[in-house]
Amino acid sequence: MAKTFKYVILGGGVAAGYAAREFAKQGLKPGELAIISKEAVAPYERPALSKAYLFPESPARLPGFHVCVGSGGERLLPEWYNEKGIELILSTEIVKADLAAKSLTSAGGETFSYQILLIATGSTVIRLSDFGVQGADAKNIFYLREVDDADKLYEAIKAKKNGKAVVVGGGYIGLELSAVLRLNNLDVTMVYPEPWCMPRLFTSGIAAFYEGYYAKKGVNIIKGTVAVGFTANSDGEVKEVKLKDGRVLEADIVVVGVGGRPQTALFKGQVEEEKGGIKTDAFFKTSVPNVYAVGDVATFPLKLYNELRRVEHVDHSRKSAEQAAKAIKAAEEGKTVEEYDYLPYFYSRSFELSWQFYGDNVGDTVLFGDSSPESSKPKFGSYWIKDGKVVGAFLESGTPEENQAIAKVARVQPPVQDVDQLASEGLSFASKI
Ligand code: FDA
Ligand code: NAD
Repeated sequence: MAKTFKYVILGGGVAAGYAAREFAKQGLKPGELAIISKEAVAPYERPALSKAYLFPESPARLPGFHVCVGSGGERLLPEWYNEKGIELILSTEIVKADLAAKSLTSAGGETFSYQILLIATGSTVIRLSDFGVQGADAKNIFYLREVDDADKLYEAIKAKKNGKAVVVGGGYIGLELSAVLRLNNLDVTMVYPEPWCMPRLFTSGIAAFYEGYYAKKGVNIIKGTVAVGFTANSDGEVKEVKLKDGRVLEADIVVVGVGGRPQTALFKGQVEEEKGGIKTDAFFKTSVPNVYAVGDVATFPLKLYNELRRVEHVDHSRKSAEQAAKAIKAAEEGKTVEEYDYLPYFYSRSFELSWQFYGDNVGDTVLFGDSSPESSKPKFGSYWIKDGKVVGAFLESGTPEENQAIAKVARVQPPVQDVDQLASEGLSFASKI
């Protein structure tokens, strides 16, 4: 017998938690909503895993960072779901989704049916074995996506005290993990193929600061090459990383962050896709009636740029989830909500650093402020200018007011007459808007 719910959220990550809160706010009867998650714990703020979860002193642990603390809200403990009559179906992986029959089947053979489905399956990591890298299944080669992964990495960090770590990838995971491994006093080397770190977002000028700062903190950086193989000792534990340029690095721990992939496989051929994600409208409704998709898996209309986009960051996962829950509840009353009008917002933190970015990173760029890695108080930023307007803004070490100012610039898109003047005005240009 299938368990039946009015609403099912498939996935138990950030979007699931924020959607549940919004459903509850809008009015929910006990037993109407279920969250089905392959993770063993209630929704939590995933960004903690690459930061405070791995700190050497007083690391963050659940229940400390369940949603919705990441955006300043009340923490939703498992008891909260209980009180609201929301069923948390944990440690349950869905292996088959039949959208026409409105039915989900778990690995354990249970079936679940729903009236409305919210797909919130997030991303999975790309593995080096996907590119056929030799020896990539050795012990102590880690990926980081879920709390289980973080627990295994934490154990290895403790077991390999003062050892050597190699971080493969120069993106978000690469930069955040290199920092936290260094804080744990490991000897850290980062390896990535591009000419500078985080090329998805950073300009060469921005990257030069972080590379210099990381070097000062003792992180070795090897650019322009990739890991092509690993050797292991007789216990099967990784010992060496072989690089394409012929170098060989010793390693007790390897952390890989070579990108994510949205988890859409369950729905292939059943729902329209676009740009690698599930295509939605401005209410996160998919091409299948009564099926919504939110968070990392959704390719949605980014109104500000008049373009369909997928965004793999936490702020959007929270807001898209809230938008979908509001739209679902409004539709039941024959009402509509306003279209999603998202301003992209990404951030990261490592060592004593903290940056925020708003808008679109396209067009020409200007760097402003003190971006010397040697500086005792570095503070700098960058604007992106397209068609004579500022469309994106980045700021390292901003105050809350300054971060608000750069968000406003990216939203308002003021015209720029003189790029040199913009560079010399720097942050004060944003503060005037
Ligand atoms: P999310 O990945 O959170 O949740 C998906 C859930 O679905 C998981 O619980 C998964 O187990 C479950 N699931 C998937 N398939 C299933 C199936 N078949 N059956 C059952 N359950 C299934 N962003 C940012 O802006 N700032 C930051 O600092 C960070 N930091 C950060 C650190 C780390 C380590 C990661 C991995 C990611 C970040 N991010 C981030 C990105 C951010 O966390 C991400 O965009 C959101 O978690 C996406 O939320 P979702 O709910 O879409 O997916
Ligand atoms: P990413 O896309 O940020 O970075 C991938 C990096 O992998 C590239 O920059 C490149 O340097 C490297 N790379 C690609 N192929 C390689 C190869 N063959 N060998 C070596 N390096 C290679 O992805 P990620 O850092 O793995 O992050 C995974 C997901 O988690 C993303 O969705 C990301 O947005 C999310 N995340 C976000 C944050 C944040 O927003 N602060 C933090 C952590 C994770």
